[in-house]
Amino acid sequence: MLMKFFDYYFARVNEDVLDLYKNLMPDCDDLADSYADIFTRNDEESITFLLEFYRATAELRHNNQQQSILFNTHDNICFPFFVEQVWQMLDDKKKAAVAARAGNDELAAIIDVFISDVEMRNWFRREIAVDLGQDDLFSLNEVIALQNFSSGGESSFLKYVYPHVQNASGNVLDAGCGAGFATMVMSQFADVFSIDACQPRLERATALSNMMRKGDKDFFPGVLKLIEDELGDLAEDVHLNASADLLNGEPRKVEFTAGSIDALPYPDQFFNMINCLDVLEHTYDPAKIIQQFARVLKPGGRLFITVPTKFGEVVQHYYEGLDGSMFPAMLHMHHFDPLTLNEMFKQNGFKEFQLTPFDCMDWASFVEIADKSPQTQLVADLKSHPLDVVALQLFAIYEKI
Ligand SMILES: C[S@@+](CC[C@H](N)C(=O)[O-])C[C@H]1O[C@@H](n2cnc3c(N)ncnc32)[C@H](O)[C@@H]1O
Repeated sequence: MLMKFFDYYFARVNEDVLDLYKNLMPDCDDLADSYADIFTRNDEESITFLLEFYRATAELRHNNQQQSILFNTHDNICFPFFVEQVWQMLDDKKKAAVAARAGNDELAAIIDVFISDVEMRNWFRREIAVDLGQDDLFSLNEVIALQNFSSGGESSFLKYVYPHVQNASGNVLDAGCGAGFATMVMSQFADVFSIDACQPRLERATALSNMMRKGDKDFFPGVLKLIEDELGDLAEDVHLNASADLLNGEPRKVEFTAGSIDALPYPDQFFNMINCLDVLEHTYDPAKIIQQFARVLKPGGRLFITVPTKFGEVVQHYYEGLDGSMFPAMLHMHHFDPLTLNEMFKQNGFKEFQLTPFDCMDWASFVEIADKSPQTQLVADLKSHPLDVVALQLFAIYEKI
Protein backbone atom coordinates (compact mmCIF):
# COMPACT_ATOMS: atom_id res chain seq x y z
CA MET A 1 0.00 0.00 0.00
CA LEU A 2 2.80 2.45 0.93
CA MET A 3 4.72 1.83 -2.30
CA LYS A 4 1.56 2.31 -4.34
CA PHE A 5 0.80 5.50 -2.46
CA PHE A 6 4.21 7.10 -2.92
CA ASP A 7 4.26 6.16 -6.61
CA TYR A 8 0.90 7.85 -7.02
CA TYR A 9 1.67 10.91 -4.91
CA PHE A 10 5.12 11.75 -6.27
CA ALA A 11 3.82 11.48 -9.84
CA ARG A 12 1.23 14.17 -9.14
CA VAL A 13 2.68 16.78 -6.79
CA ASN A 14 4.06 20.07 -8.11
CA GLU A 15 7.77 20.32 -8.86
CA ASP A 16 8.57 22.38 -5.76
CA VAL A 17 6.76 19.90 -3.51
CA LEU A 18 8.58 17.02 -5.17
CA ASP A 19 11.86 18.85 -4.53
CA LEU A 20 10.98 19.08 -0.87
CA TYR A 21 10.58 15.30 -0.71
CA LYS A 22 13.75 14.75 -2.76
CA ASN A 23 15.73 16.99 -0.40
CA LEU A 24 14.54 14.97 2.57
CA MET A 25 15.86 11.81 0.91
CA PRO A 26 18.91 12.81 -1.18
CA ASP A 27 20.98 10.30 -3.17
CA CYS A 28 18.34 7.69 -3.75
CA ASP A 29 17.65 5.94 -7.07
CA ASP A 30 13.93 5.44 -6.68
CA LEU A 31 12.18 8.00 -4.52
CA ALA A 32 8.90 6.11 -4.01
CA ASP A 33 10.73 2.90 -3.21
CA SER A 34 13.03 4.63 -0.71
CA TYR A 35 10.12 6.36 1.02
CA ALA A 36 8.07 3.16 1.25
CA ASP A 37 11.14 1.38 2.64
CA ILE A 38 11.98 3.89 5.35
CA PHE A 39 8.50 3.66 6.88
CA THR A 40 9.03 -0.06 7.37
CA ARG A 41 12.31 0.37 9.27
CA ASN A 42 13.02 1.05 12.92
CA ASP A 43 16.70 2.05 12.98
CA GLU A 44 18.19 5.35 14.05
CA GLU A 45 18.42 6.67 10.50
CA SER A 46 14.73 6.03 9.92
CA ILE A 47 13.60 7.85 13.06
CA THR A 48 15.86 10.81 12.28
CA PHE A 49 14.27 10.89 8.84
CA LEU A 50 10.75 10.64 10.28
CA LEU A 51 11.25 13.65 12.52
CA GLU A 52 12.35 15.71 9.49
CA PHE A 53 9.56 14.31 7.36
CA TYR A 54 6.78 15.12 9.81
CA ARG A 55 8.12 18.62 10.52
CA ALA A 56 8.31 19.35 6.78
CA THR A 57 4.92 17.86 5.96
CA ALA A 58 3.22 19.79 8.81
CA GLU A 59 4.61 22.96 7.25
CA LEU A 60 3.45 21.87 3.80
CA ARG A 61 -0.04 21.19 5.19
CA HIS A 62 -0.06 24.68 6.64
CA ASN A 63 1.19 26.45 3.49
CA ASN A 64 -0.19 24.29 0.70
CA GLN A 65 -2.84 21.97 2.08
CA GLN A 66 -3.99 20.81 -1.33
CA GLN A 67 -0.57 19.24 -2.08
CA SER A 68 0.00 17.72 1.35
CA ILE A 69 -0.83 14.19 2.51
CA LEU A 70 -4.44 14.18 3.76
CA PHE A 71 -6.75 11.27 3.21
CA ASN A 72 -10.19 12.66 3.99
CA THR A 73 -10.18 16.04 2.22
CA HIS A 74 -11.90 16.10 -1.16
CA ASP A 75 -9.82 18.91 -2.73
CA ASN A 76 -6.53 17.29 -1.73
CA ILE A 77 -4.20 15.69 -4.28
CA CYS A 78 -4.31 12.31 -2.45
CA PHE A 79 -8.09 12.09 -2.36
CA PRO A 80 -8.51 10.11 -5.63
CA PHE A 81 -5.96 7.59 -4.38
CA PHE A 82 -8.03 6.87 -1.30
CA VAL A 83 -11.23 6.57 -3.29
CA GLU A 84 -9.50 4.09 -5.63
CA GLN A 85 -8.29 2.00 -2.68
CA VAL A 86 -11.68 1.97 -1.03
CA TRP A 87 -13.38 1.17 -4.34
CA GLN A 88 -11.33 -2.04 -4.50
CA MET A 89 -12.57 -2.95 -1.02
CA LEU A 90 -16.25 -2.76 -2.00
CA ASP A 91 -18.26 -5.78 -3.11
CA ASP A 92 -20.16 -5.71 -6.42
CA LYS A 93 -23.44 -4.72 -4.78
CA LYS A 94 -21.85 -1.70 -3.09
CA LYS A 95 -19.99 -0.72 -6.27
CA ALA A 96 -23.30 -0.82 -8.14
CA ALA A 97 -24.97 1.34 -5.47
CA VAL A 98 -22.15 3.92 -5.69
CA ALA A 99 -22.25 3.91 -9.51
CA ALA A 100 -26.04 4.35 -9.49
CA ARG A 101 -25.81 7.24 -7.05
CA ALA A 102 -23.05 8.89 -9.15
CA GLY A 103 -24.96 8.27 -12.40
CA ASN A 104 -21.86 6.70 -13.98
CA ASP A 105 -20.00 3.40 -13.61
CA GLU A 106 -16.53 4.61 -14.63
CA LEU A 107 -14.34 5.02 -11.54
CA ALA A 108 -12.72 8.24 -12.83
CA ALA A 109 -16.14 9.82 -13.34
CA ILE A 110 -17.30 8.58 -9.93
CA ILE A 111 -14.25 10.19 -8.32
CA ASP A 112 -15.14 13.49 -10.03
CA VAL A 113 -18.63 13.29 -8.55
CA PHE A 114 -17.15 12.62 -5.11
CA ILE A 115 -14.89 15.66 -5.50
CA SER A 116 -17.66 18.01 -6.58
CA ASP A 117 -20.69 16.79 -4.64
CA VAL A 118 -20.77 17.09 -0.85
CA GLU A 119 -24.04 15.15 -0.62
CA MET A 120 -22.49 12.22 -2.51
CA ARG A 121 -19.62 12.15 -0.01
CA ASN A 122 -22.01 12.36 2.94
CA TRP A 123 -24.11 9.54 1.50
CA PHE A 124 -20.98 7.41 0.99
CA ARG A 125 -19.82 7.96 4.57
CA ARG A 126 -23.22 7.13 6.05
CA GLU A 127 -24.19 4.20 3.80
CA ILE A 128 -20.97 2.62 2.53
CA ALA A 129 -17.88 3.56 4.58
CA VAL A 130 -19.48 2.32 7.80
CA ASP A 131 -19.43 -1.21 6.36
CA LEU A 132 -15.70 -1.34 5.63
CA GLY A 133 -14.14 -4.39 7.28
CA GLN A 134 -11.43 -4.44 9.93
CA ASP A 135 -8.75 -5.51 7.45
CA ASP A 136 -9.76 -2.65 5.14
CA LEU A 137 -9.28 -0.21 8.00
CA PHE A 138 -5.91 -1.74 8.84
CA SER A 139 -4.63 -1.32 5.32
CA LEU A 140 -5.93 2.28 5.00
CA ASN A 141 -4.27 2.97 8.35
CA GLU A 142 -0.81 2.44 6.82
CA VAL A 143 -1.25 5.55 4.73
CA ILE A 144 -3.28 7.46 7.31
CA ALA A 145 -0.27 7.07 9.63
CA LEU A 146 1.66 9.27 7.16
CA GLN A 147 -0.39 12.26 8.30
CA ASN A 148 1.08 12.49 11.80
CA PHE A 149 4.05 11.23 13.77
CA SER A 150 2.01 11.07 16.98
CA SER A 151 -0.97 8.80 17.43
CA GLY A 152 -3.32 11.03 19.40
CA GLY A 153 -3.49 9.59 22.93
CA GLU A 154 -0.25 11.08 24.26
CA SER A 155 -1.78 13.93 26.25
CA SER A 156 -4.57 11.75 27.73
CA PHE A 157 -1.90 9.25 28.77
CA LEU A 158 0.09 11.91 30.61
CA LYS A 159 -2.95 13.46 32.22
CA TYR A 160 -4.92 10.38 33.25
CA VAL A 161 -2.74 7.26 33.21
CA TYR A 162 0.72 8.51 34.13
CA PRO A 163 -0.25 9.28 37.76
CA HIS A 164 -1.02 5.53 38.16
CA VAL A 165 1.99 4.27 36.23
CA GLN A 166 4.67 4.88 38.84
CA ASN A 167 3.00 2.14 40.90
CA ALA A 168 2.94 -0.31 37.98
CA SER A 169 4.87 -3.54 38.23
CA GLY A 170 5.04 -6.91 36.51
CA ASN A 171 3.74 -6.99 32.94
CA VAL A 172 1.86 -4.16 31.27
CA LEU A 173 -0.01 -4.37 27.96
CA ASP A 174 -0.08 -1.31 25.69
CA ALA A 175 -3.00 -2.34 23.47
CA GLY A 176 -3.02 -0.33 20.22
CA CYS A 177 0.27 1.30 21.22
CA GLY A 178 0.38 3.61 18.16
CA ALA A 179 3.60 5.63 17.99
CA GLY A 180 4.69 4.25 21.36
CA PHE A 181 4.92 7.25 23.69
CA ALA A 182 3.03 5.50 26.50
CA THR A 183 5.12 2.36 25.95
CA MET A 184 8.35 4.32 26.47
CA VAL A 185 7.12 6.01 29.64
CA MET A 186 5.66 2.82 31.13
CA SER A 187 8.76 0.76 30.31
CA GLN A 188 10.64 2.55 33.09
CA PHE A 189 8.34 0.96 35.67
CA ALA A 190 7.31 -2.43 34.31
CA ASP A 191 7.89 -4.90 31.47
CA VAL A 192 5.80 -3.64 28.56
CA PHE A 193 4.20 -5.70 25.78
CA SER A 194 2.94 -3.48 22.97
CA ILE A 195 0.73 -4.50 20.10
CA ASP A 196 -0.66 -2.58 17.15
CA ALA A 197 -2.08 -3.51 13.76
CA CYS A 198 -0.39 -0.59 11.97
CA GLN A 199 3.12 -1.60 10.92
CA PRO A 200 4.53 1.91 10.25
CA ARG A 201 3.41 3.13 13.70
CA LEU A 202 4.82 0.00 15.31
CA GLU A 203 8.20 0.57 13.62
CA ARG A 204 8.18 4.14 14.93
CA ALA A 205 7.42 2.91 18.45
CA THR A 206 10.16 0.26 18.18
CA ALA A 207 12.71 2.84 17.01
CA LEU A 208 11.91 5.21 19.89
CA SER A 209 12.10 2.41 22.40
CA ASN A 210 15.45 1.20 20.98
CA MET A 211 16.88 4.70 21.22
CA MET A 212 15.75 4.95 24.83
CA ARG A 213 17.49 1.66 25.59
CA LYS A 214 20.70 2.93 23.94
CA GLY A 215 20.54 6.09 26.07
CA ASP A 216 20.08 8.41 23.07
CA LYS A 217 18.24 10.89 25.27
CA ASP A 218 19.24 14.02 23.31
CA PHE A 219 16.73 12.90 20.83
CA PHE A 220 13.66 13.17 23.02
CA PRO A 221 13.13 16.95 23.25
CA GLY A 222 12.72 16.97 19.43
CA VAL A 223 10.29 14.05 19.55
CA LEU A 224 8.23 15.64 22.35
CA LYS A 225 8.17 19.02 20.57
CA LEU A 226 6.87 17.37 17.40
CA ILE A 227 4.15 15.48 19.29
CA GLU A 228 3.18 18.64 21.16
CA ASP A 229 2.96 20.68 17.94
CA GLU A 230 0.83 18.00 16.29
CA LEU A 231 -1.56 17.71 19.22
CA GLY A 232 -2.01 21.50 19.40
CA ASP A 233 -4.79 22.44 21.87
CA LEU A 234 -5.03 18.84 23.09
CA ALA A 235 -1.54 19.08 24.61
CA GLU A 236 -2.08 22.53 26.12
CA ASP A 237 -2.35 21.54 29.75
CA VAL A 238 0.19 18.70 29.85
CA HIS A 239 3.33 20.57 28.68
CA LEU A 240 4.78 17.62 26.81
CA ASN A 241 7.75 19.59 25.58
CA ALA A 242 8.87 20.27 29.12
CA SER A 243 8.56 16.66 30.13
CA ALA A 244 11.72 15.09 28.69
CA ASP A 245 12.58 14.05 32.26
CA LEU A 246 9.66 11.62 31.99
CA LEU A 247 12.00 9.51 29.90
CA ASN A 248 15.11 9.75 32.07
CA GLY A 249 14.80 6.30 33.63
CA GLU A 250 16.18 2.98 32.45
CA PRO A 251 13.79 0.94 30.31
CA ARG A 252 12.93 -2.61 31.36
CA LYS A 253 11.85 -5.27 28.87
CA VAL A 254 9.79 -4.04 25.89
CA GLU A 255 8.30 -6.43 23.33
CA PHE A 256 6.48 -5.24 20.21
CA THR A 257 4.01 -7.36 18.28
CA ALA A 258 2.24 -6.60 15.00
CA GLY A 259 -1.32 -7.85 15.27
CA SER A 260 -4.89 -7.24 16.20
CA ILE A 261 -5.97 -6.82 19.80
CA ASP A 262 -9.06 -8.95 19.17
CA ALA A 263 -6.80 -12.05 19.31
CA LEU A 264 -4.12 -11.23 21.88
CA PRO A 265 -1.08 -13.53 21.61
CA TYR A 266 -0.44 -13.64 25.38
CA PRO A 267 -1.22 -16.26 28.07
CA ASP A 268 -4.20 -16.01 30.44
CA GLN A 269 -3.72 -13.68 33.44
CA PHE A 270 -0.36 -12.49 32.12
CA PHE A 271 -0.78 -8.75 32.75
CA ASN A 272 -0.94 -6.57 35.85
CA MET A 273 -2.21 -3.57 33.88
CA ILE A 274 -3.58 -2.68 30.44
CA ASN A 275 -3.35 0.71 28.74
CA CYS A 276 -5.70 1.16 25.78
CA LEU A 277 -6.20 4.82 24.91
CA ASP A 278 -8.13 6.04 21.85
CA VAL A 279 -8.37 2.55 20.40
CA LEU A 280 -11.73 0.81 21.08
CA GLU A 281 -13.63 3.25 18.85
CA HIS A 282 -11.46 2.19 15.89
CA THR A 283 -12.11 -1.51 16.34
CA TYR A 284 -14.69 -3.67 14.67
CA ASP A 285 -15.90 -5.62 17.67
CA PRO A 286 -15.12 -3.89 21.01
CA ALA A 287 -17.00 -6.56 23.01
CA LYS A 288 -14.66 -9.27 21.67
CA ILE A 289 -11.66 -7.15 22.64
CA ILE A 290 -12.96 -6.62 26.17
CA GLN A 291 -13.27 -10.44 26.46
CA GLN A 292 -9.60 -10.69 25.46
CA PHE A 293 -8.64 -8.08 28.06
CA ALA A 294 -10.55 -10.07 30.69
CA ARG A 295 -8.63 -13.19 29.70
CA VAL A 296 -5.11 -11.72 29.86
CA LEU A 297 -5.51 -9.47 32.93
CA LYS A 298 -4.78 -10.82 36.43
CA PRO A 299 -7.53 -10.49 39.09
CA GLY A 300 -7.10 -7.08 40.75
CA GLY A 301 -5.35 -5.77 37.60
CA ARG A 302 -6.50 -2.45 36.13
CA LEU A 303 -7.40 -1.41 32.62
CA PHE A 304 -7.18 2.22 31.48
CA ILE A 305 -9.21 3.38 28.48
CA THR A 306 -10.33 6.53 26.71
CA VAL A 307 -13.28 6.45 24.29
CA PRO A 308 -15.50 9.01 22.54
CA THR A 309 -19.10 9.35 23.83
CA LYS A 310 -22.49 9.48 22.09
CA PHE A 311 -22.36 13.28 22.57
CA GLY A 312 -19.05 13.16 20.71
CA GLU A 313 -20.75 11.13 17.99
CA VAL A 314 -23.41 13.80 17.41
CA VAL A 315 -20.77 16.55 17.26
CA GLN A 316 -18.48 14.47 15.03
CA HIS A 317 -21.31 13.65 12.61
CA TYR A 318 -22.32 17.30 12.44
CA TYR A 319 -18.83 18.46 11.42
CA GLU A 320 -18.42 15.55 9.01
CA GLY A 321 -21.68 16.59 7.30
CA LEU A 322 -20.45 20.17 6.90
CA ASP A 323 -17.13 19.08 5.36
CA GLY A 324 -18.62 16.18 3.45
CA SER A 325 -15.95 13.81 4.80
CA MET A 326 -15.85 10.51 2.88
CA PHE A 327 -14.79 8.45 5.86
CA PRO A 328 -15.96 8.65 9.47
CA ALA A 329 -13.58 11.11 11.14
CA MET A 330 -10.40 9.28 12.12
CA LEU A 331 -12.27 6.07 11.27
CA HIS A 332 -14.26 6.02 14.51
CA MET A 333 -16.60 3.07 14.14
CA HIS A 334 -18.14 3.22 17.64
CA HIS A 335 -19.14 5.66 20.35
CA PHE A 336 -19.96 4.75 23.92
CA ASP A 337 -22.00 5.87 26.87
CA PRO A 338 -21.13 5.17 30.50
CA LEU A 339 -24.00 2.75 31.08
CA THR A 340 -23.40 0.49 28.09
CA LEU A 341 -19.63 0.71 28.56
CA ASN A 342 -19.97 -0.35 32.22
CA GLU A 343 -22.32 -3.14 31.19
CA MET A 344 -19.85 -4.50 28.62
CA PHE A 345 -17.07 -4.54 31.20
CA LYS A 346 -19.26 -5.96 33.98
CA GLN A 347 -20.34 -8.84 31.77
CA ASN A 348 -16.66 -9.73 31.43
CA GLY A 349 -15.82 -9.70 35.13
CA PHE A 350 -14.69 -6.08 35.59
CA LYS A 351 -15.86 -3.45 38.05
CA GLU A 352 -15.79 0.29 37.48
CA PHE A 353 -13.04 1.96 39.47
CA GLN A 354 -13.15 5.46 37.97
CA LEU A 355 -15.08 7.19 35.20
CA THR A 356 -13.93 10.68 34.24
CA PRO A 357 -15.68 12.65 31.50
CA PHE A 358 -13.44 15.06 29.57
CA ASP A 359 -13.35 17.21 26.42
CA CYS A 360 -16.49 19.02 27.58
CA MET A 361 -19.00 21.34 25.94
CA ASP A 362 -21.83 23.34 27.57
CA TRP A 363 -25.38 22.07 27.09
CA ALA A 364 -26.60 25.05 25.03
CA SER A 365 -23.74 24.70 22.52
CA PHE A 366 -24.37 20.98 22.28
CA VAL A 367 -28.10 21.45 21.68
CA GLU A 368 -27.39 24.03 18.96
CA ILE A 369 -25.37 21.40 17.07
CA ALA A 370 -27.69 18.50 17.99
CA ASP A 371 -30.75 20.32 16.61
CA LYS A 372 -29.11 20.39 13.17
CA SER A 373 -28.20 16.71 13.32
CA PRO A 374 -29.83 14.08 11.09
CA GLN A 375 -29.42 11.56 13.98
CA THR A 376 -32.88 12.44 15.28
CA GLN A 377 -33.45 9.39 17.50
CA LEU A 378 -30.04 9.58 19.20
CA VAL A 379 -30.43 13.34 19.69
CA ALA A 380 -33.95 12.90 21.16
CA ASP A 381 -32.57 10.27 23.60
CA LEU A 382 -29.65 12.49 24.64
CA LYS A 383 -31.84 15.60 24.98
CA SER A 384 -34.29 13.76 27.24
CA HIS A 385 -31.69 13.99 30.06
CA PRO A 386 -30.45 17.61 30.01
CA LEU A 387 -27.09 18.29 31.67
CA ASP A 388 -25.08 21.42 32.45
CA VAL A 389 -22.17 20.21 30.37
CA VAL A 390 -21.64 17.22 28.12
CA ALA A 391 -18.41 15.27 27.67
CA LEU A 392 -17.26 14.29 24.21
CA GLN A 393 -14.84 11.69 25.65
CA LEU A 394 -14.53 9.40 28.66
CA PHE A 395 -11.53 8.19 30.59
CA ALA A 396 -12.25 5.03 32.58
CA ILE A 397 -10.42 2.65 34.88
CA TYR A 398 -11.86 -0.86 35.25
CA GLU A 399 -10.61 -3.44 37.72
CA LYS A 400 -10.67 -7.15 37.03
CA ILE A 401 -12.55 -8.94 39.83
C1 LIG B 1 -5.76 6.81 17.66
S1 LIG B 1 -4.50 5.63 17.68
C2 LIG B 1 -4.08 5.63 19.42
C3 LIG B 1 -2.72 5.04 19.65
C4 LIG B 1 -2.16 5.09 21.08
N1 LIG B 1 -2.90 4.23 21.97
C5 LIG B 1 -2.13 6.49 21.63
O1 LIG B 1 -2.64 6.67 22.73
O2 LIG B 1 -1.58 7.39 20.99
C6 LIG B 1 -5.33 4.11 17.47
C7 LIG B 1 -4.37 2.95 17.27
O3 LIG B 1 -5.10 1.72 17.41
C8 LIG B 1 -4.61 0.81 16.45
N2 LIG B 1 -5.67 -0.19 16.24
C9 LIG B 1 -6.95 0.01 15.85
N3 LIG B 1 -7.61 -1.15 15.84
C10 LIG B 1 -6.74 -2.10 16.25
C11 LIG B 1 -6.83 -3.52 16.45
N4 LIG B 1 -7.96 -4.18 16.26
N5 LIG B 1 -5.72 -4.16 16.85
C12 LIG B 1 -4.56 -3.51 17.06
N6 LIG B 1 -4.42 -2.17 16.90
C13 LIG B 1 -5.50 -1.49 16.49
C14 LIG B 1 -4.32 1.69 15.24
O4 LIG B 1 -3.43 1.05 14.36
C15 LIG B 1 -3.73 2.92 15.90
O5 LIG B 1 -2.34 2.86 16.03
